[in-house]
Amino acid sequence: MKILVTGVAGFIGSNFVYYYLSHHPERTIIGLDNLSYAGNLENLSLLSREEKAQFHFEKADITDPVRIKEIFSKYQIDGIINMAAETHVDRSIHDPQVFLKTNILGTHVLLEAAKNAWHSKNDGWKGGNKFLQVSTDEVYGALGPTGYFIESTPLDPHSPYSASKASADLVVKAYHDTYGMPVNITRCSNNYGPWQFPEKLIPLLIYNALQHKSIPVYGDGKQIRDWLYVEDHCRAIDLVYDGGRNGEIYNIGGNNERENIVIIKNILTLLREITGDPCINDSLITYVTDRPGHDRRYAIDSAKIKKDLQWVPQVSFEQGTVLTVNWYLDHQQWISNVTSGDYRKFYEKNYENRC
Ligand code: NAD
Ligand code: TYD
Repeated sequence: MKILVTGVAGFIGSNFVYYYLSHHPERTIIGLDNLSYAGNLENLSLLSREEKAQFHFEKADITDPVRIKEIFSKYQIDGIINMAAETHVDRSIHDPQVFLKTNILGTHVLLEAAKNAWHSKNDGWKGGNKFLQVSTDEVYGALGPTGYFIESTPLDPHSPYSASKASADLVVKAYHDTYGMPVNITRCSNNYGPWQFPEKLIPLLIYNALQHKSIPVYGDGKQIRDWLYVEDHCRAIDLVYDGGRNGEIYNIGGNNERENIVIIKNILTLLREITGDPCINDSLITYVTDRPGHDRRYAIDSAKIKKDLQWVPQVSFEQGTVLTVNWYLDHQQWISNVTSGDYRKFYEKNYENRC
């Protein structure tokens, strides 16, 4: 089985490649990424020799129909897991256009290529194909102090990022409803763990704290996110790809609702305890102007995926934060390569001139 996974050089994509190849040694991943600022092939530098044999990398942009068609012609693609996206809400506020292009039009390019490859007027759909769209709980908008998002919660996105993801979900649904394409959509809460670009809250705060730099807290810091350890997310995607009922949406959440300020203080304490550095303390916290349109609370009801596919998150927030903090402490060269820009040279050194 050959699966095209897009966004493999990003945070969730790279974690997924490690997870998937080690759990499915008989399958092949065609890993695609355009190596935008968030794409870092160093994230995949720990693949074993066996895993490398199961993995083919293609540098390509999902908005480029010619390249995507070429990739479909080169490989017999059985399915797609689409994770490629512009993902940072703050960037989407400053420059929405690339979000609309990649997240909506790019998804459409992939859907169209998949339809052309998998569907013929005479024979209909070939068996065994699937398009899995990795989406986000942010498409549902914001919750008040109580309640949870379920799969039928109406879409009510607030940022250009979440609006682009909601739009992509609707295009995926349209390909299912109109052409009969086999699809699933997954909507997960905030992920954390290894290989996350240090613009997102948890890696940014670890990086800044280690350098005794201030940690920006938006608004009052009492916004709530429902944190999910990335490996639990990868297992959920794997289960949905193989067992998700055609056309269904699955919410994936960690059941770890925390206020941002609580997370920040916990991680500062953990870092201080592990490093013994007394300068890592709450004095680094700096309250700054709130993000416009900032969603107050996200919380996911994952009952459907638990019941249908027996998925349960296996890593508690307490375990996950220790794993994550230790990972970033052990990979400070990776963080330096990202922040200095050296990570961009990884492709030229390791992939560009390879036979
Ligand atoms: P990320 O920003 O770390 O990675 C995204 C990857 O997509 C990068 O490698 C980037 O180079 C690639 N990419 C961007 N534009 C592209 C294009 N036009 N063509 C090809 N590749 C392109 O993001 P992530 O956190 O790994 O998120 C992966 C997916 O999961 C996204 O679809 C995101 O919306 C979704 N998601 C993420 C979270 C989270 O907490 N990180 C939560 C919910 C949903
Ligand atoms: P982020 O990691 O950007 O994820 P998302 O916006 O997709 O939820 O932010 C997580 C939360 O942390 C969000 O409520 C915004 C807040 N935040 C800060 O307070 N300071 C920061 O520097 C960042 C990056 C985020």
